[in-house]
Amino acid sequence: MFDELIKKAHEVLDTNWKGEFTVPTNTLYPFQWNWDSGFVSLGNGHKNLDRSIKEINSLLSGQWANGMVPHILFHSENEKTYFPNFDFWESSVNSGSPDKPKSSGITNPPVIGFVLENLLIQHPDDENLVAFVKESFNKVVNFHRFLYNSRDPHHEGLMYMYHPWESGRDNSPLWDESLNRIEIKEGSLPNYQRRDLDVSEADERPTAAQYDRYVYLLLFGKENQYDSPKIAEECPFLIQDNMMNAILIRSNDSLIRIGERFSFDTSEIKEWQQQSITSFNSKFWNEKLKMYVPYDLRAQKQIEYKEIGSYVSLFAQVASGQQAAHLQDHLVHLHNNGYYLCPSFDVDSPEFDSKRYWRGPIWPHVNWMIYHGLMEYGYREIANVVKADTLKIVNKWGLCEYYEPQKEVAKDLSLGYGGKNFSWTASTILDLMYNT
Ligand code: GLC
Repeated sequence: MFDELIKKAHEVLDTNWKGEFTVPTNTLYPFQWNWDSGFVSLGNGHKNLDRSIKEINSLLSGQWANGMVPHILFHSENEKTYFPNFDFWESSVNSGSPDKPKSSGITNPPVIGFVLENLLIQHPDDENLVAFVKESFNKVVNFHRFLYNSRDPHHEGLMYMYHPWESGRDNSPLWDESLNRIEIKEGSLPNYQRRDLDVSEADERPTAAQYDRYVYLLLFGKENQYDSPKIAEECPFLIQDNMMNAILIRSNDSLIRIGERFSFDTSEIKEWQQQSITSFNSKFWNEKLKMYVPYDLRAQKQIEYKEIGSYVSLFAQVASGQQAAHLQDHLVHLHNNGYYLCPSFDVDSPEFDSKRYWRGPIWPHVNWMIYHGLMEYGYREIANVVKADTLKIVNKWGLCEYYEPQKEVAKDLSLGYGGKNFSWTASTILDLMYNT
């Protein structure tokens, strides 16, 4: 039934393939993005395993001496259509950053661990893959070690982020209050020109005030070589994100299983894991909302919103049976009330904006994690709704970046939102289709 969609998805991945890695989409995002590459490798794994290996290899080629895998790798220094580009980030302020590829100075949700395991499940005995996974294992562990050593000053087992771009959910309302606390004095930021608005609609993108704060935090990181205890001590924006930590926990689990298969020492990862799971539940669960939420380290309080990241905790297997039941109830409720699953933000909140990026639209790669999480908890029925909705919206409104969740509004649209011919949309739906 989906033959045509499979063909189109492969075409998108072919067009966006640059020889060693895949760009998220050709115009809006012309470089290699960290967590995008992870999801792209999953989908490519089915027919182009060789590309998946090259993709992850290329991502790890940007790893810093401190273990961080940056959120963007600028493989080409001639591509001028993106802001902030490599010359604005100046990753060389950190002496452990490679000279090539140049990179951003922040990280992204740590997906590589679970992606490698997923590829091994697809091809358990492929010699190239096995050799590659063995060779990459320590690099990925080192990345996690960076998150535990440099991003967890109180040794709680939970990593912090200091820029919304690290979470991958750039303009989610989750970050509004914390960002609004940042005061920007008139004229204190260098002149800069956004490039995203040249190629996409302003009402689907972050606002100007938000962008100023993104630039402010970038510059704050740069002043502190992107890795200094001063970031935890002084950065005005410091948050423990439940989704990033859920992904870290899932990837730890994958690393433990991979390590056991190849008889590597996994004791350090097991220690991290135990502490992370306990802290995750004590710090992020919100009994009023019956959901997991992020924790603002500056304001010392939870950020109380119903948001997509909460469901990813199912993928990390950290929820008790009862907590998981609450999470599935929320999704059933949305499904019964006129929404495609899963809107990225609370549809009943005044902050909900069904068109604007992470303030409401559906993101297929997040659905992929939620689908697997629900399946693993045995919630097959709602998991299958997540899968069917994902395939339906992509089939109907094209291989875009994000999608309208309100069925009533979506029926009058001819296309999804944001960038077109989008790589991780193509790859995650391929994985969902091949795994029937
Ligand atoms: C946007 C998204 C981020 C993604 C990037 C490239 O910035 O918010 O999650 O990694 O685009 O697709």
